Amino acid sequence: MAERIPINAFDMSCIMHQSPGLWARPEDQSVRYKDLRYWTELAQLLERGKFDSLFIADVLGVYDTYQGSADASIRRAMQIPVHDPVVPVSAMAAVTEKLGFGITVSATYEQPYALARRFGTLDHLTDGRIAWNIVTSYLDGAARNLGMDRQMSHDDRYDLAAEVVDVCYQLWEGSWEEDAVVEDREAQIYADPEKVHGIDHQGRFFSVPGISMVEPSPQRTPVIWQAGTSPAGRAFAARNAEAVFTVAPTTATLRTYVEDIRRTLEGSQAHWVQLHGYPTPSFVEAVKSIAIAANAPSAYPRKPLPKDIVPPLTEPLIMRQSMERVVLHARQEFDSDAGGRQ
Ligand SMILES: Cc1cc2nc3c(=O)[nH]c(=O)nc-3n(C[C@H](O)[C@H](O)[C@H](O)COP(=O)(O)O)c2cc1C
Repeated sequence: MAERIPINAFDMSCIMHQSPGLWARPEDQSVRYKDLRYWTELAQLLERGKFDSLFIADVLGVYDTYQGSADASIRRAMQIPVHDPVVPVSAMAAVTEKLGFGITVSATYEQPYALARRFGTLDHLTDGRIAWNIVTSYLDGAARNLGMDRQMSHDDRYDLAAEVVDVCYQLWEGSWEEDAVVEDREAQIYADPEKVHGIDHQGRFFSVPGISMVEPSPQRTPVIWQAGTSPAGRAFAARNAEAVFTVAPTTATLRTYVEDIRRTLEGSQAHWVQLHGYPTPSFVEAVKSIAIAANAPSAYPRKPLPKDIVPPLTEPLIMRQSMERVVLHARQEFDSDAGGRQ
């Protein structure tokens, strides 16, 4: 089977993801994140550049542990302010034809019934170009602002996510039969209620008796991506994900991770998996590589980093994972006879 390497762009609907200071450079356009044209122009640029997809990260809380407040985060625009990443997707879809959209939505704070409708709607409006990057969140502040005293435990969040996706799968795949929509104008019958079924879900976290609110969409189930590297995260990925989003400090660490998740996948139903990996030796290196990518058409030869780009490292605000805006990800395709999605 022919191998190809898809190219995925990374962004977040805010001023800076994990590249402190870059937003202030004159050529940087991140402050335009609140302008819809930023997103439509970006989508068109990526499509013109033959990118396969745009990935948008998200958080639902504020980094507020440094000196016991969110002041430093606010001052430096560290993922705050941040918009809902779902909103610009249909506008981007309207100005492109092929670009896919991988949108991060936490499974921890959503009702699956509403979530299934949102992604079903997006699947229609993008004509089947939507992917859901499932995360389980990590900020206590998110929990406190969303009706809880504190976060659920790490593994409970994965148990919850498992039920959230289970409900979504039932709604996407099991509720409306393929020929339920008849659209018979003469008889004035849009859909046949005999072919629309409630899912009767009764679980540990949710009770969802009803039918899906969305008629069958091009993909029904969006492409599922996952980000989270613990054993629980890997098991969740093996069960559900077609693409795994990861980060590693060295190539060797990344290789071990990739091999491990592929071993885990052997026993799963997953048909194929994409692993996004980009070794970043340290936070400073990551910042440098972003700067280099921004400064030069090619990453080589390396240019010295302008001093004003390096953030003061004394600020323990620094987030542990480091990311570049654009990453290559390798895709491994498994034998189509192995089952699962194409
Ligand atoms: C590469 C990577 C990217 C992530 N991106 C996000 C994100 O955009 N939003 C979010 O809330 N969590 C994100 N997470 C956090 C995970 O969803 C998860 O909550 C966290 O990593 C803890 O799970 P784990 O122990 O399985 O890694 C990301 C994790 C990784 C490894």
